[in-house]
Amino acid sequence: MELPFAESFRIKMVEPLHRSTRDKREQWIKDAHYNLFNLRSEQVFIDLLTDSGTGAMSNRQWAAMMMGDESYAGASSYYNLKAIIKLILGFDYFLPTHQGRAAENVLFSVLIKEGDIIPGNSHFDTTKGHIEFRKAIAVDCTIDEAADTQKELPFKGNMCLNKLGKTLAEHHKKIPFVLVTLTNNTAGGQPVSLECIRGIRALADEYKKPVIFDSARFAENAYFIKIREHGYQHKTIKEIVKEMFSYADGMTMSSKKDAIVNIGGFIAMRHKDWFDRASVFNILFEGFVTYGGMSGRDMNALAVGLDEGTEFDYLETRIKQVAYLGEQLDKYGVPYQRPAGGHAIFVDAKKILSKVPREEFLAQTLGIELYLEAGIRGVEVGAILADRNPVTQENRYPELEFLRLAIPRRSYTNNHIDVVAAALKNVYDRRNSITNGYKIVKEAPIMRHFTVELAPASG
Ligand SMILES: Cc1ncc(COP(=O)(O)O)c(C=O)c1O
Repeated sequence: MELPFAESFRIKMVEPLHRSTRDKREQWIKDAHYNLFNLRSEQVFIDLLTDSGTGAMSNRQWAAMMMGDESYAGASSYYNLKAIIKLILGFDYFLPTHQGRAAENVLFSVLIKEGDIIPGNSHFDTTKGHIEFRKAIAVDCTIDEAADTQKELPFKGNMCLNKLGKTLAEHHKKIPFVLVTLTNNTAGGQPVSLECIRGIRALADEYKKPVIFDSARFAENAYFIKIREHGYQHKTIKEIVKEMFSYADGMTMSSKKDAIVNIGGFIAMRHKDWFDRASVFNILFEGFVTYGGMSGRDMNALAVGLDEGTEFDYLETRIKQVAYLGEQLDKYGVPYQRPAGGHAIFVDAKKILSKVPREEFLAQTLGIELYLEAGIRGVEVGAILADRNPVTQENRYPELEFLRLAIPRRSYTNNHIDVVAAALKNVYDRRNSITNGYKIVKEAPIMRHFTVELAPASG
């Protein structure tokens, strides 16, 4: 008999979870102004808000923490991390930052000015926030097929080379660089192929533009290349990663994802002049160049995480768990962005809550319903996240309205995943009785989803 698949780790330390009643959850979500970010963690049973900084570190990572060098300048932990970045990603220059958006803040301070245009594949919200904060424009060149949630494509995170070519032809004078997000989080944790990356590089070269990778989930991207792209089956993840980054001039990294640490980020680059200019902003915003907002112990854990996170067995366990959630939802007919992504299932809220008007934030409504049903916390990737148009101040309604269920790394078992799928089935079964959504009562001018306050639209 063929043996079933099993995880590539066993559990050495556990943390209790908190069950609750529906009555309690009704009160808590009301007190949280119907914003899932405002809930306390004890009010959540299974927390799929994000896979960012929520994973479990390994015994090797914890051991490395004990060896952290906390010197303000020139710590061995910094040099250790620098060596791993060179070995795995191939960059000579790097700056630590406290997380991914800080890396964006520092690098974009060097590269972006007012009026610039930055083409990319579904820029992540903090990335877009840092672009728009500088009065520049993010132009989305993602392939059109990414908007059809039921279409199965191996590389649904790809950039459309025609769209990119057109944008470069029309606006090249205003384009400081091309940005590639790996995997494409906003389109559903979908990967970008190496064929596409090579195409992007060739187009950028035509116009002498640098290419930057937003690399939060680069290792998951490499796993999909190995599994799905012709010619890569026999390459190791580390070989694929090396090839991916050989096409980039620089990268920003949220280490809280694929480097499996609870906090941290960095910028890595090929150009000494970028490093020199970015160092000034790093010192101003983050800290001295050899720690940049990170402790020595955290840099040590990150160095080990980069190594572990680019191992096939770890990635297979991780991505198969996300796929498992997709398989359970298939049994119940719950629609989501197909195929299952690397870090999350993106539930297609538009297809489920078709009776809730888009002005009443239907993906948020689905998130609240799932929380009420079983204490499971996801996150809206829809109109609230899309913010207002900075010029017209109108709400932006994206083509897709998702409830993202992001799976923390090495944290939950498949029994938890079964509970998530069953709870979502229950909401799905009563979908036609859900007709009212929510209205905004208070919002921040940018990246409003974190702090927005809502009330029932019909109230
Ligand atoms: C693709 C992508 N880029 C950038 C970031 C920002 O990273 P951080 O949350 O560490 O600031 C994230 C975080 O979720 C992300 O998913």
